[in-house]
Amino acid sequence: MTTNARDGFTNKFGVIAAAAGSAVGLGNIWRFPYVTGENGGGAFLLVYLLFILLIGLPVMLSELLIGRRAQKNVFGAFKALAPDKPIFMSVGIMGVAAAFMILAFYAVVAGWTMEYTYLAIIDGLSGMNSTELSVFFQEFQTSKIGPLVWVGIFMFLTAAIVIGGVKNGIEKYTKILMPLLLVIIIILSIKSVSLEGAQAGLAFLFKPDFSKLSGEVILEALGQAFFSLSIGMGVIATYGSYIQKKENLMLTAVSVSFADSLIAVLAGVAIFPAVFAFGIDPSSGPGLVFETLPNVFNSMQGGYIFSVAFFVLLVIAALTSSVSLLEVVVAYFVEELKMTRKKATVIAAVSISVLGVFCVLSDDAFKFFDWTSSNLLLPLGGILIAVFVGWILGRQNMKDELTAHGGKAYFSGLLLIILKFIAPIAISAVFLHGLGLL
Ligand code: TRP
Repeated sequence: MTTNARDGFTNKFGVIAAAAGSAVGLGNIWRFPYVTGENGGGAFLLVYLLFILLIGLPVMLSELLIGRRAQKNVFGAFKALAPDKPIFMSVGIMGVAAAFMILAFYAVVAGWTMEYTYLAIIDGLSGMNSTELSVFFQEFQTSKIGPLVWVGIFMFLTAAIVIGGVKNGIEKYTKILMPLLLVIIIILSIKSVSLEGAQAGLAFLFKPDFSKLSGEVILEALGQAFFSLSIGMGVIATYGSYIQKKENLMLTAVSVSFADSLIAVLAGVAIFPAVFAFGIDPSSGPGLVFETLPNVFNSMQGGYIFSVAFFVLLVIAALTSSVSLLEVVVAYFVEELKMTRKKATVIAAVSISVLGVFCVLSDDAFKFFDWTSSNLLLPLGGILIAVFVGWILGRQNMKDELTAHGGKAYFSGLLLIILKFIAPIAISAVFLHGLGLL
């Protein structure tokens, strides 16, 4: 594939499906519940949703806009749109760094998901009670060998899809997957809510206790919003560069943000009632989902089928996200370093797998990559992206891009205010306050 023969998406649903495929993943079903649990529940959820609306959505739209305007990956995009302002190119560099870090621990968690898929298929968890399931997860996670093998398998699959190219690789899988995953999560939520003792879980998730809010908690909410929407590092800009002019960018950003938030909240409804019903600690960390959901499957009719379907779909959801992360690195290698697509993919996948090994071997490495990418690199990228569209591209370019499909640009005045002032100031404040500097 050459740089000027850029692959395009065939239709509107293809673009939205691919962007939603990137956004919806382990971030919604694994990270959202565990971070919400660690940060006190309801108040965190409220702040998170506020950030999605006020910052996440505008930044996502900005990324789509930058990508489509420049017709390039994010690094090349800034170079083309603002050649005299090298500061913005740091978005591209931070983006590549963030993609490396995120994929490293993402592959580990995706590996856990694959192990649980295997266990679901062989019906290996059905006899266990809640305590046994928790112990089982911890033993598996510390066994190292299993998790390491899965990291390799997951990265291999991701690389195989990326080598296939954008259109064939991504669009095909996402269209069928999204609705199916949604249906399973809804069924799980219904089951979970009807468990004895579910009430406490719903209260935890939906009754805000504002005394739980602190600078760190608010920063975690911001980081989770960025992570879940796949924004702040150019993934969405790369997709934007593949979107045709006739598509409505605002509609795309709204649809993707809405679908992503809906799935996260539903995952919360599926998990927290069960957490309380089975006496699990909501702040037990990254293992929360893996320790909780098997209990729900064990207590439901047809649990075997549902558990297999759920974990298979979750692996696929993880793949459509990891593909988008690897794509950023590959696009950069191909377009800036002039590598072939295949070579770029292999080099990137192998080096990320090595980082993944560190994440398996050390909890500290895992936590460092997880925390730094979401709470540091993505919000920093978000500031630059907002400032770029608000101040450098400016009103006219923004409007041109938002109306390129032939429709009106709604809320463009408000959007400009958010991008110029509100988002950069809010992100900076949350950031400094969360780090204890303000
Ligand atoms: N948003 C994805 C998820 O929720 C993860 C992801 C994919 C991502 N691409 C990203 C996160 C880019 C940040 C940036 O699972």
